[in-house]
Amino acid sequence: MNLNQQIECWLTSCKHDLKKKDRPFITLAYAQGLDGSITTRQGNSLGLSGKHSIQLTHQLRSLHDGILVGIETILADDPQLTVREWQGNNPQPIVLDSQLRLPPTAKICKHPDKTCWILSLSEDKENIHDIAKILAFESENQKLVPLDKAMKKINEMGINSLMVEGGATVITAFLNAKIVDAVVITITPWLIGGYKAVSNLDETSLSQLPSLNSLRYGTLEEDLIIYGRLKYGEVLAC
Ligand SMILES: NC(=O)c1ccc[n+]([C@@H]2O[C@H](COP(=O)([O-])OP(=O)(O)OC[C@H]3O[C@@H](n4cnc5c(N)ncnc54)[C@H](OP(=O)(O)O)[C@@H]3O)[C@@H](O)[C@H]2O)c1
Repeated sequence: MNLNQQIECWLTSCKHDLKKKDRPFITLAYAQGLDGSITTRQGNSLGLSGKHSIQLTHQLRSLHDGILVGIETILADDPQLTVREWQGNNPQPIVLDSQLRLPPTAKICKHPDKTCWILSLSEDKENIHDIAKILAFESENQKLVPLDKAMKKINEMGINSLMVEGGATVITAFLNAKIVDAVVITITPWLIGGYKAVSNLDETSLSQLPSLNSLRYGTLEEDLIIYGRLKYGEVLAC
């Protein structure tokens, strides 16, 4: 089996093992340089992955019901979040966007077969319902979308597996919420000295920090792919 087949088998079996948790199975998948940077500066767009790693990303998208990014990633990269470099279905695009900043010109609003879902704290903005489906949540701190409620809601709406593609604020929030089940990280040969994928985790002790359970790896051209189930201390997320 080549690496793409190995990752697909592994992910399929991980998803199968998931015990019902009132949320989807969650895979974190992103690309970083050797030093952990995902881009040069926050808000800059940087195409890090090689051709084969991009194919893997599209394959991973096709293996999930939904794909989620933060609004800053939409504003910086304007991604389509579709499956173009692999054969398979497009996942449901979902954006964390508390204040409904999604621009109507975003490519995600011109998706070929799905209306984008916005996880938000607000419902009312002129014409927003023409471009997206708004799922509004109440939040205790009124700043960010509560991930527990949002994951429960999208699970009820049929999203049983979710790929989280970034950016850093979202990656860190999912890790802090301890709801990441699996990780696929593409490590590219660059030293970027830029904006890091993970920062400010709430835990400080090694015994509580997230780590990969039985780390697996392989290479695609010059990129190293590291993947595995995530555990927090001794406990697997699912
Ligand atoms: N290399 C890669 O694989 C990769 C992948 C993706 C992105 N990127 C890069 O990452 C950068 C963007 O990352 P970023 O850290 O600035 O932003 P981000 O993670 O894309 O988006 C963060 C924003 O999402 C909103 N949000 C709402 N609820 C949230 C919650 N519960 N938790 C976290 N965020 C929530 C917040 O904005 P509101 O307060 O307005 O709601 C927050 O500021 C860009 O430069 C992009 O190019 C790289």
